[in-house]
Amino acid sequence: MTESQELSEHGRATALSHSFSEFFGAPADGLWRAPGRVNLISEHLDYNNGLVLPFAINRSAVLGIRLIPESNTSEVVSTWVDPATGNQAHDTFRMDRLAPGGVTGWASGLAGVAWALQQTTGAPVPAFQALVDSNVPVGSGLSSSHAVEVSLALALAELTGADVDRRDLARITQRAENDFIGAPTGIMDQSASLLSTAGHAILLNCRTLETEHIPLPLEQAGVRLMVVDTRVAHRNNDGGYAARRNACEESARLLGVETLGDVPTGTDLSELPEHLRPKARHVLNERARVQTAVNCLRAGDWAGLGHALNESHESLRDDYNVSCPELDLAVETMQKAGALGARMTGAGFGGSAIGLFCDADIPQAKTAVKEAFAHAKWVEPRLFTVLPGPGADRLR
Ligand code: GLA
Repeated sequence: MTESQELSEHGRATALSHSFSEFFGAPADGLWRAPGRVNLISEHLDYNNGLVLPFAINRSAVLGIRLIPESNTSEVVSTWVDPATGNQAHDTFRMDRLAPGGVTGWASGLAGVAWALQQTTGAPVPAFQALVDSNVPVGSGLSSSHAVEVSLALALAELTGADVDRRDLARITQRAENDFIGAPTGIMDQSASLLSTAGHAILLNCRTLETEHIPLPLEQAGVRLMVVDTRVAHRNNDGGYAARRNACEESARLLGVETLGDVPTGTDLSELPEHLRPKARHVLNERARVQTAVNCLRAGDWAGLGHALNESHESLRDDYNVSCPELDLAVETMQKAGALGARMTGAGFGGSAIGLFCDADIPQAKTAVKEAFAHAKWVEPRLFTVLPGPGADRLR
């Protein structure tokens, strides 16, 4: 990370400390930071027990927290303004009444983490006050909600002295998503936030949570990853995601294996019913592309990596059917503007696309994407570059 990024993080932490004391009338017990993620390649492989290749980005949620064991009601507030109400997100929930589905909306992830930690360790979690500030755009498909959840999970684990490690915390935050919120997501996003190291992508085995850190020296190589946040808000609990997951589970059952991660490479998929075949094909081909991407990174072959990104997008668009017109336009425009490769990233159905560029091509690519969206009469997308940053940690 550059010095200015570190300074701005220090500045954010200081501002958050002040706001915390002002809002709650007492200082925070501590401040924790957890990053969002970009998935380089390996989409929809985590719940198929595959290998995934995300990295933590240099954008994060910062959370200040104070335990208030004398109370049974937690109070959580964010600097984020909910566009639906025009108000800062602010909620309270009773700790002795936490139950799946009992808290909805913005605070559900925070309540869910407290609930899942309690369920997993068997020890009650005291009430708390928390203030969150994040520069991971909400709904961008860059794991903005996981960043907030992970920051709270780390904070609560440390403040309560829970006997859990980072892999346990990944499972706990997944449990919050799956069982409390009702979003049937995999384990990639929280693991990327918890287990990444700066300057690296993380090759994560989603069955065992074993990791290997693969160098991702973007700056040194003179290449950049540009994010196009289409501002089509994406959600993982509205049916499309679950339908893909169910299709994979059904294919695995018909092929006589536990998950599509267990299907040998080159397996003939022609026996699968027609509506399942393209989805299973995406999973098998994407598995192979992860290996290609790792080989390319090890060899410094950025053009080869770009090619794999392009293929991944085609597969997500045509076989897995999770892209949308805005993501497709972002990807095509970046490809025409000189990208080495481009693809949607994250679950799809909106959110963000990424493009891999040589440094010099970034300005023209930004102009081209803005013009293409203006021409289509869509909201102006958010454009920014990202670097592989460090995983979640305590700031103060
Ligand atoms: C979302 C989920 C992840 C993963 C991706 C798709 O980000 O939270 O678990 O399934 O979609 O790769």
